[in-house]
Amino acid sequence: MFLEVSSRRDIADDVIELSFRDRDGGPLVDWEPGAHIDLTVSPGVVRQYSLCGRPSDRQHYRIAVLREASGRGGSRAVHDIVQVGSVFEVAGPRNNFALEPVPGYLFIAGGIGITPIIPMIDTAISSGADWQLVYGGRHRTSMAYTEELEQLGPNVSIRPQDVDGLLDIEGALSRCAPDTLIYCCGPEPLLRAVEDHCERRQLLSSLRLERFQARQPTDDVIDAEFEIELGCSGRVLTVPADRSVLDVLRDCGIDVISSCEEGVCGSCEIPVRSGIPEHRDSILTDEERAAGDRMMVCVSRSRSARLCLDVKPADAT
Ligand code: FES
Repeated sequence: MFLEVSSRRDIADDVIELSFRDRDGGPLVDWEPGAHIDLTVSPGVVRQYSLCGRPSDRQHYRIAVLREASGRGGSRAVHDIVQVGSVFEVAGPRNNFALEPVPGYLFIAGGIGITPIIPMIDTAISSGADWQLVYGGRHRTSMAYTEELEQLGPNVSIRPQDVDGLLDIEGALSRCAPDTLIYCCGPEPLLRAVEDHCERRQLLSSLRLERFQARQPTDDVIDAEFEIELGCSGRVLTVPADRSVLDVLRDCGIDVISSCEEGVCGSCEIPVRSGIPEHRDSILTDEERAAGDRMMVCVSRSRSARLCLDVKPADAT
């Protein structure tokens, strides 16, 4: 779909907030907290941004964009080119970070990672759940939405690093009730630190993370050739060591949707009928990986000699 920018405003150092609307004023596709949209910034440049408005507002999608000086250029382009009235191709919303209904939540956000957390807090409040927010950033002026969040009262802990140091993750986890889910979004060092603390406390099954950059592999990985079988057709293709499953499917005319092509957006997910995927995405939980019934074909490969994927050959009817 093509959406028009209806507002743009500065909300923190190097952070702008954008609202999008349908060009004809029609209602937008509904969404749940944790969802993101895929914004085509320029031909071939697609970036994911969490929705941070209210799901009840069917007229607008709201996002906040940090200008990342050392990024790949997508956010700089957004800052430089977007004006009220600009029109962009938008896909989604898609949700890899859904808020599960539980009695309590600990939200941990770093920097621009606050964006998916904002509608989650609204939902937690309206459902009567217990919740706490621990929100860090380099400086207070670099942190978006601090004033709105402070109005929510003592459940909100805003901790700029230049004043308070690193977030007290251990302290926050120690105050969690047993049935609390932990939702965390932010830069990779924060995600890694929260994962480490949760692992030590045996809380990994309660942790929900969202990454917008690919997780760095912890081990050296060697790519090997394997085969993929296309659904019930019996047709078998070889995935060479230097190509992805996505490349091979496209070569044979199968139209697979993709966006990030680095395992963070979820758009290229395909069901797996048999075989053992080697997951290299940054989305699936440990349980979902162990189930082995789906994979992100842009980055994931195979531990078995052959994977049977639930796709149809391009010439199948
Ligand atoms: Fe984004 Fe594969 S294209 S996960």
